[in-house]
Amino acid sequence: MLNMQELLSLVKGRVAIGEEMREHTSFRIGGPADFFIEPMDRQDFIRAVGFFTSRRIPFVILGRGSNILVHDEGIRGGVIMTGTALQQFSIKKQQVEADAGVSVSLLAEKTFSSSLGGIELLQGIPGTVGGAVRMNAGAWGQEIFQVLSWVEVLRGGRTSVLYPDELEYGYRQGGFGSEIVLRAGFRLKRLSEREHAERSRRVQEIRLQRARTQPLSFPNAGSVFKNPERSIGGESLSAGALIDRCGLKGYSCGGALVSELHGNFIVNTGSASAADVMKLVEVIRNRVAERFGVVLELEIGLLGFDGVICR
Ligand code: EPU
Repeated sequence: MLNMQELLSLVKGRVAIGEEMREHTSFRIGGPADFFIEPMDRQDFIRAVGFFTSRRIPFVILGRGSNILVHDEGIRGGVIMTGTALQQFSIKKQQVEADAGVSVSLLAEKTFSSSLGGIELLQGIPGTVGGAVRMNAGAWGQEIFQVLSWVEVLRGGRTSVLYPDELEYGYRQGGFGSEIVLRAGFRLKRLSEREHAERSRRVQEIRLQRARTQPLSFPNAGSVFKNPERSIGGESLSAGALIDRCGLKGYSCGGALVSELHGNFIVNTGSASAADVMKLVEVIRNRVAERFGVVLELEIGLLGFDGVICR
């Protein structure tokens, strides 16, 4: 049983009951979480995790809620945010260390302006270091595990360090189990002035390309499906291209719409529910399966859906 008084006296940060998760997701969708915690610092974060673990109350860790769909009925159990508690980062020579709650985009920007290369193309991606490490996030050919040196995790109440060769990582997966990412270390490349100038041009190109091909002005959760790993009819087609070829751009269920700009983005036009998004996901999956014989796998994580585990 949860003793509210105990929780309030233990956690120094913000504790809320029934916090609407739509306030904390980039999709702007999601019902109330039973217990919502924004710990104040690292120790507070570890205490909050310990609180739920020792009482066997289910909980999830969230960064910026940028790659998830939360059920309309919300989340039973706890939600612990990394944002305020895990915010430190440092750049020393080529070694970069960042807490799980640091924005990936900010880290990409700061490291690149310190003439370090390796994650500069991740500028503009919406998540946090913790989420990006857990799922080996990437864009435009750069991927977190290409530069990852180590990850500090919390497991069974203890912290430990894991190295990439201990993890079965791959495309959009970091190979973690129940470990909670606290902090990560990266080794980046020192850039010459010429390299920096070249890469700046590429960063600029990508900024324009992103604005042209991704629906940045509507709430969304990035790519909804993973790209299929096998080729289709000899072509290696992305999920976006398959959805596009099915003529589904502009197709909607309630307030959820397949973006006209990119087939692999579902946008919330204002009043979408999680149920609308899931209906649209099913329509897309069925059409793509009928036409191309491929079952698209979700790239976004689902929270609060029965039988579905958050990634
Ligand atoms: N395409 C279409 N129609 C569409 C969308 C795309 O024909 O509606 C074509 C494009 O013209 C291009 C190809 O499909 O030839 C691939 O599209 P894009 O370059 O947009 O890349 P993507 O494979 O759809 C992946 C990542 C993105 C990342 C971009 C750029 C996945 C699932 N998605 O998208 O990541 O930004 O590459 O590197 O791997 C995310 O993870 O949330 C995300 C946005």
